Amino acid sequence: MSSVTLDHVSKRFGNVKGVEDVHITIQSGEFFTFLGPSGCGKTTTLRMIAGFYFPSAGRIQFGQQDVTHLPPHKRNTGMVFQNYALFPHMTVFENIAFGLQVRKLPKQDIKEKVERAQRLVHLEGYGERRIDQLSGGQQQRVALARALVIEPQILLLDEPLSNLDAKLREETRYEIKRLQSELGITTIYVTHDQAEAMSMSDRIMVMQGGEVQQIGTPYEVYHRPVNRFVASFIGETNLWEGKIVATDGNLIRVQVAPEIELVGDRANASAIAKLQPGETVTLSIRPEAVEEAGEADAPACNQLAGVVEVAEFTGASVNYVTKIESLQLRSMFVNRGSRVKQAGEPIRLRIPTESIYFIG
Ligand SMILES: Nc1ncnc2c1ncn2[C@@H]1O[C@H](COP(=O)(O)OP(=O)(O)OP(=O)(O)O)[C@@H](O)[C@H]1O
Ligand SMILES: [Mg+2]
Repeated sequence: MSSVTLDHVSKRFGNVKGVEDVHITIQSGEFFTFLGPSGCGKTTTLRMIAGFYFPSAGRIQFGQQDVTHLPPHKRNTGMVFQNYALFPHMTVFENIAFGLQVRKLPKQDIKEKVERAQRLVHLEGYGERRIDQLSGGQQQRVALARALVIEPQILLLDEPLSNLDAKLREETRYEIKRLQSELGITTIYVTHDQAEAMSMSDRIMVMQGGEVQQIGTPYEVYHRPVNRFVASFIGETNLWEGKIVATDGNLIRVQVAPEIELVGDRANASAIAKLQPGETVTLSIRPEAVEEAGEADAPACNQLAGVVEVAEFTGASVNYVTKIESLQLRSMFVNRGSRVKQAGEPIRLRIPTESIYFIG
């Protein structure tokens, strides 16, 4: 096990910016995820850690060891590539054994290690099967076994679940998580799927356009996004523009439409939010934080009357898009069996003061 430090690491491809100034330490045993849209620099960063690219600037360390210019086979990292990169005409056994044969281990050792790796990923008895005779999920597990069999200090996974269907993806997600915590192995995981990142990671690095936007726990990046990009990329949210009309101690009164003022709390704000009267701010309101106000409730702070525009029943939840004057508000309610409103019906909603997050 080993920590991984990227010390102001950048990578340029000619004039193309791959990644810029990534500065992080991933702790030994941590499950750390690079998350961001296509082209944001996730694979480039992972490849530099594996040694397939050398940085244009900066240093990379595993623990105390500087590995910046070490070739891949001297780094003791196990990598699962996005497309698995398995040898299709070779058997499961031959694929998993490959890294050990390159390292010229004795035959008996190879056999034992491969069998142990097969057991880890629940592929006992599949040794003689050819890769092109396996399902996508089984291939995925062969790729994982091949990375684990060399007993790497660091496991690098580049979108390893992207080719699987939803059900298998969820199962394999638990499987990877189980293996990782069982082996206590430092794991760096690449995905553009925020739900995957949220459910698996100790910490997430959110990237965009080659630059790091935020590093934090799933809770932090969800509840304390540093900017608009992070707020909208992680989970669903309502982003409203508003103008601050008054402040009273911690309470911030903000106008979001000609007839609508909301009250938020100064404590719920990113570092870049300017919370002075006259300033324009972006508000982030999570759909699940919106409450339905009962018919009998007296009009109160942050209560809004609107008309349901879209009603969506997912089984687990009921989601509404509500038109409120010129605004749209998405809300989400856990399904407890009550009647689902139809488009066109009136609805009264309430946004709790503490659920308004000022972004900037
Ligand atoms: N070998 C290369 N030569 C030139 N440009 C490259 C090379 N590899 C990556 N890039 C560019 O660097 C940027 C980051 O690419 P990277 O592959 O790291 O993105 P990514 O976040 O992994 O995206 P995806 O989710 O699509 O896999 C992109 O603009 C890409 O076009
Ligand atoms: Mg990639």
